Amino acid sequence: MKKKEKNRYHEITLDEQPFKVEAGLSLQEISEKIEADLIFGCFSGRCGICKIEVIEKIENLSTRTDLEEYYFSMTGEPNQYRLACQCHVLGNVSIKTTS
Ligand code: FES
Repeated sequence: MKKKEKNRYHEITLDEQPFKVEAGLSLQEISEKIEADLIFGCFSGRCGICKIEVIEKIENLSTRTDLEEYYFSMTGEPNQYRLACQCHVLGNVSIKTTS
């Protein structure tokens, strides 16, 4: 019997441009690899400069961290907004930069 092979790559669409990336990476790592226009500041979920909007497949990002929950409780922005420095990509996802 053939073993089911785990997906080793995901497709991430950033500002309508698709990229194929290794599975298991954070958005920060992906951003560095593809030289994306994502801007980071504190890298710790506090400044909000890395805020992104998830266009499709939000379930394929790791869940909001406590730092993100705190940040977005202050801004009141809905669930489709995330802090890129806090996200790991778990499958295909489409996102849009906000800064
Ligand atoms: S880089 Fe500051 S919140 Fe993400």
